[in-house]
Amino acid sequence: MRILFIGDIVGKVGREAITEILPKLKQRYRPTVTIVNAENAAHGKGITEKIYKQLLREGVDFITMGNHTYGQRQIYEFIQDAKRMVRPANFPEEAPGIGMRMINLNDKKLAIINLQGRSFMPVIDDPFKKADQLIQEAQKETNYIFVDFHAETTSEKNAMGWYLDGRVSAVVGTHTHIQTADERILNQGTAYITDVGMTGYYDGILGINRDEVITRFITSLPQRHVVPDEGRSVLSGVVIDLKEDGSAKKIERILINDDHPFDSFGSNAFKI
Ligand SMILES: [Fe+2]
Ligand SMILES: [Fe+2]
Repeated sequence: MRILFIGDIVGKVGREAITEILPKLKQRYRPTVTIVNAENAAHGKGITEKIYKQLLREGVDFITMGNHTYGQRQIYEFIQDAKRMVRPANFPEEAPGIGMRMINLNDKKLAIINLQGRSFMPVIDDPFKKADQLIQEAQKETNYIFVDFHAETTSEKNAMGWYLDGRVSAVVGTHTHIQTADERILNQGTAYITDVGMTGYYDGILGINRDEVITRFITSLPQRHVVPDEGRSVLSGVVIDLKEDGSAKKIERILINDDHPFDSFGSNAFKI
């Protein structure tokens, strides 16, 4: 099984990068399943039903979310019916949506779990204990388990990777919007990367227009975040190959922007 995962899609620039580059990535890697984190897809905050449907139309199979899940009010109306989306599983039970879903891929099943960290993030239930519970549930049906751990600190993400090593196929980090270069297979066979990075406006700060962010750092005054609608883009992702027993064989980073153009990135290892 080959999983293509793309990190936090931010606004229109990010969505347009998906429209343009995803078909080429799918042609190159021929993934069994394509998963994206879309917590920032609607102008930086949350997702709308229209965008949810558009991403699925464009070849995305499944969507993970994060702390911005409820950023658009209309999410409350469609999240229960959004069968191809998970939000962090360790939100309190009262929060609409679901944190783990199983999808059928030919004769195999893949469990997709979304969790959110607690260091320098809003108060939420324990993601480690939640992971234990969900993995036990998932293992009744499949050995293929994918985890998007949406968290701020490298240490919490590292800890989750090692905590789940050997029990899940992959732990990929999202949320910081900056790709880390530490992709590896952990000792017991779990593919891991601290952060996949984001897909959006390349010349800003984490996908946001840089002027207001810099002003905030200099003045300590609140500033309105602006997500540009046009400009150069970056697309960040990973591709992961899994063995029959659900453990990982290989993980490779994808980073595409004007400094790392599509035709020059990566090794040839995944070419078919
Ligand atoms: Fe994000
Ligand atoms: Fe986030």
